[in-house]
Amino acid sequence: MTKKSYYITTPIYYPSDNLHIGHAYTTVAADCVARFKRMQGFDVFYLTGTDEHGQKIEKVALDKDMTPQHYVDGIVEGIKVLWETMLISNNDFIRTTDKRHEEVVKNLFQKVYEQGDIYISEYEGWYCTPCETFFTERQLIDGKCPDCGRDVERLKEESYFFNMAKYADRLLAHIDTHPDFIQPESRRNEVINFIKNGLDDLCVSRTTFNWGVPVPFNDRHVVYVWFDALINYVSAIGYLDDKDKFDRYWPANVHLMAKDILRFHAIIWPIMLMAVGLPLPEKVFAHGWIMLEGGKMSKSKGNVIDPLQLVNKYGVDAVRYYLVKELSFGQDGMYSEEMLVNRTNSDLANDLGNLISRTVAMINRYFDSKIPESIGEDALDQELITAALRAYSEATEKLDKLDFAAYIQAVLKLISRANKYIDETQPWLLAKDEDKKDRLGTVLYNLVETIRIAIILLAPTMPTLPERANQQLGILEDPATLTWEEAGEWGAARAGTIVNKGKALFPRIDIKNLDGEENSDNEELENQKIEEENNLIDIEEFARIDLRVATVIACEKMKKADKLLVLKLQVGEEERTVISGIAKAYEPEQLIGKNVVLVANLKPVKLRGVLSQGMILAASGPQDNHIEVLTVEKIESGNRVK
Ligand code: MSP
Repeated sequence: MTKKSYYITTPIYYPSDNLHIGHAYTTVAADCVARFKRMQGFDVFYLTGTDEHGQKIEKVALDKDMTPQHYVDGIVEGIKVLWETMLISNNDFIRTTDKRHEEVVKNLFQKVYEQGDIYISEYEGWYCTPCETFFTERQLIDGKCPDCGRDVERLKEESYFFNMAKYADRLLAHIDTHPDFIQPESRRNEVINFIKNGLDDLCVSRTTFNWGVPVPFNDRHVVYVWFDALINYVSAIGYLDDKDKFDRYWPANVHLMAKDILRFHAIIWPIMLMAVGLPLPEKVFAHGWIMLEGGKMSKSKGNVIDPLQLVNKYGVDAVRYYLVKELSFGQDGMYSEEMLVNRTNSDLANDLGNLISRTVAMINRYFDSKIPESIGEDALDQELITAALRAYSEATEKLDKLDFAAYIQAVLKLISRANKYIDETQPWLLAKDEDKKDRLGTVLYNLVETIRIAIILLAPTMPTLPERANQQLGILEDPATLTWEEAGEWGAARAGTIVNKGKALFPRIDIKNLDGEENSDNEELENQKIEEENNLIDIEEFARIDLRVATVIACEKMKKADKLLVLKLQVGEEERTVISGIAKAYEPEQLIGKNVVLVANLKPVKLRGVLSQGMILAASGPQDNHIEVLTVEKIESGNRVK
């Protein structure tokens, strides 16, 4: 049986300069989907490339005393290195200067002209060179480009026009009958309104510069860059010269991009396809922008972040992870290096990295480095298994919807469930009792299984993770050919497999030392060893406990409970109620006015109908009334204890 095909594309980027993290955002996201679909068994075709024609590129090249071709060749080499470094698994890289592409552009332009949808006329309007777009007077904002805010030029030229209005109703009907065609929903509505406001005919040729595909029947004109560029999606899959391939992959499943170029993909491109009689892509998906403090990152503003530098500093998995997690469904995200570091430390080093290293360390210590068997599951185990299977189905559903952040969240939930399972099952206590060896084995097996599943689910985002994790756990048959379904099967890890302790999968990054020395691998290993042998926690884990000074403003005995007091606390501006088991040691009035220490981020619990919002710290001795509440003298309520 032939595999079902799946065709996904990114925009083809302008090689007017090196690409930045904004471009990496789309390309990594599309790569994540491509890898996911391949793991699901689809015959995936993932396309990216470069959009090389147009006045802007011509100008940049001439300013550098280079031919446009020579100039873009250099930039394109750099882009290819960037995508290789970021482990982008594209199946092809299309350049609009490729002959295979130019032939299709000429062919389709001719076709649309011959059927009368392209006609010659005269154009007068305002042109924004950086955006390669014409605007009418009323589209300008304060006389400037409505998209980028820069100066526009008045141009008048003989041009060919594409009769878009003719197809507007058909396009509206298509959008109406295909609710998933334009995503997310809010963008879909924008596009519908835009079309309903009336479509002007599109000017599809230029005579003021030469750097473009010549109009086949009039070489004084070059084809408008957007008409040229959009065609890449069909030229790359053999529209003219490889019918089998074309039929296999067209129509595309997803064109992915940011919202800035949605209209080109959701209006112009579909109308071009209708005009040449090709089916429309299944989905056009516009994600949000990645922003910097000063606004959208863009080459023309000069506030760009180089993804290569980040990868060199933090490793490809961490950078990809950050980008994918940052992509909330259709929303803009804020870029900050500090966030990247924090995410690496908290999600990867702490939650996932520690889960793996603790599990491996315990198997080493208690089972002579061999993964133990599971001997029957109890309710707690069942809960973990259910969580794992839920993570699998949630991750699948969210990735299919291109809801990247929610997909990552589904896996993170599982990882934190597994960490909690360690706290609940307390393997180190089980290890003290020979009779509980089987139980200990089951707990560790369940942890291994959860890790295996989490790794598979994260593989599309972090392609080197399976191989690196497998060096320690040895549980994946072949990290290079994982299937997605393997994550949906509980119990695939084989008992008896030898585990090896290796270096930390995600070494913690010290933000203060960002530009200085990182800990050497040896130091990392040493630190980890000490941590695991003594069951130590690190400073970040401790810092998660929010301890605050709180003033007792009221206190009374809890009705029908001889050990409990109900305290009213003032914590800075806020009031809290806390129930504490200290009634044997204190009369309520002894506590009023005291500054105690509150665990402020403890999950609230209801005790006998009263909600207790935290816990106060106390030292306790061997007897019931040997209790001393910790107090602070000079520091006021609301301040942090650390
Ligand atoms: N050449 C056209 C696309 C033609 S597709 C037929 C183009 N190129 S571009 O180099 O400007 O790339 C724009 C795309 O790059 C955006 O749609 C988005 O996919 C990506 N991004 C560039 N900057 C970005 C951000 N700051 N944030 C998110 N994505 C960004 O337009």
